Amino acid sequence: MSEALSNLLREDRRFAPPAELAAAANVTADTYGEASADRVAFWERQARRLHWDQEWDQALDWSNAPFAKWFVGGRLNAAYNCVDRHVEAGNGDKVAYHWEGEPGDTRTITYADLQREVSKAANALIELGVQTGDRVAIYMPMIPETVVAMLACARIGAPHTVVFGGFSATALRDRIQDCDARIVITSDGGYRRGAPSALKPQVDQALAECPDVRNVLVVKRTSQDVEWKDGRDLWWHDVVDRQSDQHTPEFFDAEHPLYVMYTSGTTGKPKGILHTTGGYLTQVAWTHWGVFDIKPETDIFWTAADIGWVTGHSYIVYGPLANGVTSVMYEGTPDTPHQGRWWELIAKYGVTILYCAPTAIRTFMKWGEQIPAEFDLTSLRVLGSVGEPINPEAYVWYRTHIGGDRTPVVDTWWQTETGALMISPLPGVTEGKPGAAMKALPGIAAEVVDDAGNPVPNGSGGYLVITEPWPAMLRTLWGDDQRYVDTYWSRFQGRYFAGDGAKKDDDGDIWLLGRVDDVMNVSGHRLSTTEIESALVSHPKVAEAAVVGANDPTTGQAVVAFVIMRGSAASGGDAVVKELRDHVASEIGPIAKPRQILVVDELPKTRSGKIMRRLLRDVAENRELGDVTTLTDSSVMELIRTNLSKPG
Ligand code: WTA
Repeated sequence: MSEALSNLLREDRRFAPPAELAAAANVTADTYGEASADRVAFWERQARRLHWDQEWDQALDWSNAPFAKWFVGGRLNAAYNCVDRHVEAGNGDKVAYHWEGEPGDTRTITYADLQREVSKAANALIELGVQTGDRVAIYMPMIPETVVAMLACARIGAPHTVVFGGFSATALRDRIQDCDARIVITSDGGYRRGAPSALKPQVDQALAECPDVRNVLVVKRTSQDVEWKDGRDLWWHDVVDRQSDQHTPEFFDAEHPLYVMYTSGTTGKPKGILHTTGGYLTQVAWTHWGVFDIKPETDIFWTAADIGWVTGHSYIVYGPLANGVTSVMYEGTPDTPHQGRWWELIAKYGVTILYCAPTAIRTFMKWGEQIPAEFDLTSLRVLGSVGEPINPEAYVWYRTHIGGDRTPVVDTWWQTETGALMISPLPGVTEGKPGAAMKALPGIAAEVVDDAGNPVPNGSGGYLVITEPWPAMLRTLWGDDQRYVDTYWSRFQGRYFAGDGAKKDDDGDIWLLGRVDDVMNVSGHRLSTTEIESALVSHPKVAEAAVVGANDPTTGQAVVAFVIMRGSAASGGDAVVKELRDHVASEIGPIAKPRQILVVDELPKTRSGKIMRRLLRDVAENRELGDVTTLTDSSVMELIRTNLSKPG
């Protein structure tokens, strides 16, 4: 374990729940016991938060493990649960979203508005021939139509696959092809960093190799010029606006696919994580209500993430809407037009709960505490963190300068695969420790195990596993059951392998220590080392590439690439490095651009030819080298070091 980590685990600051919050908390300490007495019965009680057209006859079918079925025989409609039932209960005038565009334009969308818009969009998709079970790809900025499109799909039982708008045409193409989507919903663009940023050109480029896509529905957001393919491309406003705002939802099997979300794995090919309806909605609804202590009448909830990631799916869309809550949704970047934009929004809308990533918090720390200090943040009562380990300094800064030293900070561990929160403090129960995700939530069974799969004693580290099925778990990888079994259920027999290292402290509380596989976490975004390596070697000038995630004070990890160039390209200097960085951006997306590219003559390899990434990481982080005796040629490292210390 590194020294930094041992220091981290010596952290002894503690923050008790505020008395008032604890006294009125949705979840109390007793819930842990009630849930562990009968885990499945606990989730059945939570499933009753939803409207079921028909109740299930079996809560969990694990007979074909690791393929789970929850609430077998039950029927429900996710969109009806998120929208219509609130309107029917008399809450149609309640605001679902306070939406704020980056340029400052705003839209207020009530639950009744949402019901009409979702119904129209559902009718439009039906007109375009979308049938139950068909996949629809969504490639959008952060605008209300993104939510409407997702719910319209859910309403007619067409699983959506939302592709993050920052991904490239190539990444979009791969995802459309993998799930065989026939319809794409996009926009001309969105606003980022003070300017319109185009999306339609990437769709056009992607679709050059997706002949099966029949139609592209395009929302007009920025009024940028767009290329138009007649017969294929349709304006959203031409097709959706003229539809009836009435649509009667059909009820689907609890295990009906709700969406596919692609995420990086340890190989170059992204994995299509499949989530289904009943169990997913049950767990996102309960965790949202319990972990954020949601009071639907008074809370204003804000997840500052992109809907293109699972955090947006579960805690901008499905969780808050299932609970009938008012959310804030913001289109742009935190420093446009000024570095206080988030705090201005919190003051403007009276946000009570903020949920964001440690990377954002560390960026705000860098900008300085005087910026949030100019705004009234007293409405805040709970703060959440997600996506990567939060270092104690960032945790304490967040609590102090954003939370006024009053608000609990919930550090929530989960994954695209888990669908919903899994390990987290409870704001009215847990005495918070900066940097610790603490305990598995009620109804969840997690353990830290050693190499042989035995639970480690308190005070020791190992691998995080989930030992019992949970409602929002992924059901499989789209089109690849075997890879699902191999990736998650084979490392430790009968248990779910998360791919994260973890440690139990002396109290048995869990600290997450980052990925143990070839997956990096940059600004809370998952990237695969192999995927970036493949992108690099697809460039004609590159002979070989090795990519590592090096510690970075702001982004958590940063991409550092070591490349061997072909022949004369080696002397290309800065121009070649720029060309390669741009190439990665166009293959995967700007988020995958290496922070550094080091041109080297050789890469350190074991005798069996495997690149020793651990050593490269040491170099990238400027640490002392570990054991290099298994290297074919240990002078390689010297060469790399020499190159690294050269400027540029
Ligand atoms: C990491 C994001 C430490 C972890 C919801 C996990 C975290 C990966 C935390 C999943 C946390 C997420 N503390 N690490 N609170 N939350 N992670 O699929 O490595 O984008 O495996 O889901 O992020 O990333 P994903």
